[in-house]
Amino acid sequence: MRKKIGCIVQARMGSTRLPGKSMTKIAGKPMLGIIIERLTACKKLDTIIVATSTARNDNKISNYCKKKGIKVYKGSENNVLKRYYDCAKKHELDVVIRVTGDCPLIDSKTVDQTVEKFLKEKFDYVSNIALRTFPRGLDVEVFSFKILEKTVKEAKSKFDKEHVTHYIYANPKKFKMGYVKARKKLFRPELRFCVDTKKDLKLMETIFSKLETNAEVEKVIGFVDNNPKLKKISITQEEKYRDKRGNIEQITLRPVNFNDRKWILNIMNQKTVRKNSFNPAKIKVKENTKYWETKLKDNDFKAFAIFSGKTPVGLARIDKKIVSIAINENFRKKGIAFIALSGINIRECIAEIKPKNTASKKLFKKLGFKEKKSSKEKIVFKKK
Ligand SMILES: CC(C)(COP(=O)(O)OP(=O)(O)OC[C@H]1O[C@@H](n2cnc3c(N)ncnc32)[C@H](O)[C@@H]1OP(=O)(O)O)[C@@H](O)C(=O)NCCC(=O)NCCS
Repeated sequence: MRKKIGCIVQARMGSTRLPGKSMTKIAGKPMLGIIIERLTACKKLDTIIVATSTARNDNKISNYCKKKGIKVYKGSENNVLKRYYDCAKKHELDVVIRVTGDCPLIDSKTVDQTVEKFLKEKFDYVSNIALRTFPRGLDVEVFSFKILEKTVKEAKSKFDKEHVTHYIYANPKKFKMGYVKARKKLFRPELRFCVDTKKDLKLMETIFSKLETNAEVEKVIGFVDNNPKLKKISITQEEKYRDKRGNIEQITLRPVNFNDRKWILNIMNQKTVRKNSFNPAKIKVKENTKYWETKLKDNDFKAFAIFSGKTPVGLARIDKKIVSIAINENFRKKGIAFIALSGINIRECIAEIKPKNTASKKLFKKLGFKEKKSSKEKIVFKKK
């Protein structure tokens, strides 16, 4: 049976940093109106519903929606998780997309890409936020109604109830999680396009004074890149309000550069990394310098620095189709290796693992690798 796919946009008037923000006008339209307009370009959505609260203050939102013919649901003010559940139930959704009412640059193609991944690979939850490769403000989360129901039953804390999906991404072991990576032109995790502060709002006003409210994000990025002042606002605001997602900071990736070689060497020389390597000798500084000098010029070699928040925590490499990864000992068992490798194209790659390396065996199996060959010395895994 065909699944009913609906996007629920949460919106409220009572923001502390920017009261009434969802209804604040940019280019003559309420921010919420811009978001809905941009979402209607999605090809994968059957319906779009604004979910606001029953608080009197939020009547402005529901009245606006009614006037514009936008579906609106009024539910719990503080238990936003319950609000999502009740709204999804009323509209008989099988698949729920979560978008927030403070992202006026939401991108229809990214929403479609996330939904596609969710449907194709049968995940419980797919997002583009735990692994941050997109600018902030293009945030999309997709989950099944069943998972939403389970979350409503299990999530007990006030924080989980307020933040809808926190319980899901803070419990990656309980759910089958998927992560979407930005296409090349949108791979700009340092940029921030959501509206929390007056400065953010000013940035959007400037953007939409020059570009149409339905302008493609690629065009907006080009515009910001050509305006150093705007770019600075977008980047420095990110530092101030960087999202801390429970105990998991956002994971970002970027290509390794020559200056990274020092912190990489520290990780590579950690005891467990050497032990699991086929060449267990400690790596010398000179040897490391030479390695990166040569490898960074090699077209068959790709290396990604992995960050948790601002901290470099690991290295992922693909060397002639052989993939390898190392995570700093202090950051292990948080799902970082899995999230990072989900964001890299590792199709048709192999991984060579020592038989006693349980963590790696689990990791590569979870990523869809299949055991191809095994001997006393190594197991070879391959991904189609
Ligand atoms: C292998 C390594 C990269 C995993 O990094 P990580 O960020 O801790 O991995 P994740 O948290 O994403 O966990 C992936 C899976 O491995 C499991 N795992 C992680 N560490 C484990 C350990 N010490 N023992 C058993 N299982 C472990 C996790 O539980 C998870 O499986 P699950 O979801 O089924 O429970 C890390 O341990 C490491 O750097 N090891 C040294 C270098 C190395 O061996 N590299 C691999 C060779 S290519």
